[in-house]
Amino acid sequence: MPTYRPASLSYNAPAMKTPSRPPLPPEIRADQSVELLQALHILTRDGKLNQDSRRKLKQVYHLYQFIEPLLTEVMTRRGNLTLADHGAGKSYLGFILYDLYLKAQTSGHIYGIETRPELIANAQDLAQRAGFERMSFLNLSAAASIRDAALPDSIDIVTALHACNTATDDAIRFALAKKAKHVVLVPCCQAEVAATLRQTKAASLATNALAELWRHPIHTREFGSLVTNVLRCLQLQSHGYQVTVTELVGWEHSMKNELIIASHTNAPRNTARKRLEEILDTLNLNALRGRFLE
Ligand SMILES: C[S@@+](CC[C@H](N)C(=O)[O-])C[C@H]1O[C@@H](n2cnc3c(N)ncnc32)[C@H](O)[C@@H]1O
Repeated sequence: MPTYRPASLSYNAPAMKTPSRPPLPPEIRADQSVELLQALHILTRDGKLNQDSRRKLKQVYHLYQFIEPLLTEVMTRRGNLTLADHGAGKSYLGFILYDLYLKAQTSGHIYGIETRPELIANAQDLAQRAGFERMSFLNLSAAASIRDAALPDSIDIVTALHACNTATDDAIRFALAKKAKHVVLVPCCQAEVAATLRQTKAASLATNALAELWRHPIHTREFGSLVTNVLRCLQLQSHGYQVTVTELVGWEHSMKNELIIASHTNAPRNTARKRLEEILDTLNLNALRGRFLE
């Protein structure tokens, strides 16, 4: 049985202060768990950062800058928070958020949702060793998680980082069903819109000069990807979210660095829905009405 306790995980906690440990790199914050950063391969076994992990840490901090105000907003308003991370992978994001933010709080819960059982088992093991008691890992698809009893009826914040293909869309449906206040998405490639553009290409080229934008296969893929994210933004807006789209600067390891942050307000929503319908119609994408107009 693992014997780690939360207090012993902080580098500066007395139990961990051994004279033999070298000083930590300056990028590591005083209250960060060294063991966790090692388990996530951000720090080497001897507590050092290499060039790759230094860059990775910079990226994590950059993303954290966007998410921390959302955590604070919910915590201040409700005195509690729930966050569901879809396509969690190694639950890298969830662990970092817990370590940097939730660890210091007495409430708040993070759910990692992931289809690969071995990643769930590893994350459960790491959370137990770290003493991160308010984390759960669920072996579910993003779509199945919408109705799974293991999740509460409402969730404050929904995240999905590079969740494959349509998992990002399922995360949006989850956010709508759970009435999430904030949604943070870094979409991965989505093949569905490009495939539909391809299927209706001949008809589009015959009637619409704009179809030149996706005539060539490489353009079909790129335009499909752009349209997907535009439709996602309009879908969120049509449900009353205010949407910001920006770039995850420094996310060098991935070409997919678009960051979509949506926060629910009582903003008017009719225009967004109308625009969404018009775009689906103009681009011959009516087969996808169910996905974006729900
Ligand atoms: C590219 S990884 C990203 C992992 C993590 N979010 C990150 O940014 O480091 C995508 C993950 O999504 C998971 N996944 C794929 N389809 C999924 C689905 N429909 N529902 C939940 N997870 C899914 C994959 O198993 C994989 O671990």
